[in-house]
Amino acid sequence: MVGPTLARLFSLEGKVALVTGASRGIGAALADGLAGAGARVVGVARSPAPRDPFRQPVRYVSADVAAGLDALVAGIVAEHGRIDVLVNAAGVSVSAAPDQALAAFDTTLDVNLRAAYAACLAVAPHMAAQGEEGGGSIVNVTSINSLVGFPGNPGYVAAKGGLRLLTKALAVDLGPRGIRVNALAPGYIHTDMTAASFADPERHAARARHTCLGRWGEVEDLVGAAIFLASDASRYMTGQDLVIDGGWTAKGLT
Ligand SMILES: NC(=O)c1ccc[n+]([C@@H]2O[C@H](COP(=O)([O-])OP(=O)(O)OC[C@H]3O[C@@H](n4cnc5c(N)ncnc54)[C@H](OP(=O)(O)O)[C@@H]3O)[C@@H](O)[C@H]2O)c1
Repeated sequence: MVGPTLARLFSLEGKVALVTGASRGIGAALADGLAGAGARVVGVARSPAPRDPFRQPVRYVSADVAAGLDALVAGIVAEHGRIDVLVNAAGVSVSAAPDQALAAFDTTLDVNLRAAYAACLAVAPHMAAQGEEGGGSIVNVTSINSLVGFPGNPGYVAAKGGLRLLTKALAVDLGPRGIRVNALAPGYIHTDMTAASFADPERHAARARHTCLGRWGEVEDLVGAAIFLASDASRYMTGQDLVIDGGWTAKGLT
């Protein structure tokens, strides 16, 4: 009976998912992964098209999360009759000259925190209306930056720290309506966002050395955690951080 039990727990068959930041990197991998687990997936980002073709059937829509996703969500519900999963993976990391520090802070907060909250607000009434049919699961992609401070990018750290506690606040507010809200907190993952430090031999080695597993993460390393959080396998889990960092935050000395 192990096979059927496993399949039932982790299956996303019949579920409809919206993944932001799906044009590349982590969001694209999570969109692909959820579709591979059986969900009907809509992926969204600003680029006119995803950088790489999806391996699974993912419908891609070009939109700016900072402009709000209410119309997109309404369209998904009109087409599929429901929305079960939201993954907020859209994010920016803005480095700025000192005289642009506040502008960079505002941009980062807008995309990484405010837009994620707006997306939660857009899906919540639809998920709640599904009532006993399942409610929903929201996965906010935070970061190890939501747990500890890092130099040189206070807006990013503040936004991810805010998103971490927004996750807990929404878990409290939406739990009674059958909606779970959790944070998926990656460590150093090789994507465009981290391309410069990945390519720099010194910074590359320093980041790998601080993990317990001795290496950077790949986007595929996050897929199992996202399927777990999206599926019934995590049905009694809400308001929590799932840290996928190769042990980066577990380690003291480098
Ligand atoms: N890589 C890491 O080590 C790491 C670690 C922890 C957390 N994270 C988080 O993981 C998420 C994905 O990051 P990544 O590493 O995959 O970075 P990435 O390769 O730069 O991808 C960022 C994604 O967000 C989208 N995006 C940015 N601004 C947007 C907007 N205004 N509207 C819609 N989509 C937008 C981008 O698409 P368009 O440019 O096409 O809009 C892209 O799809 C982010 O939230 C990031 O903070 C990354």
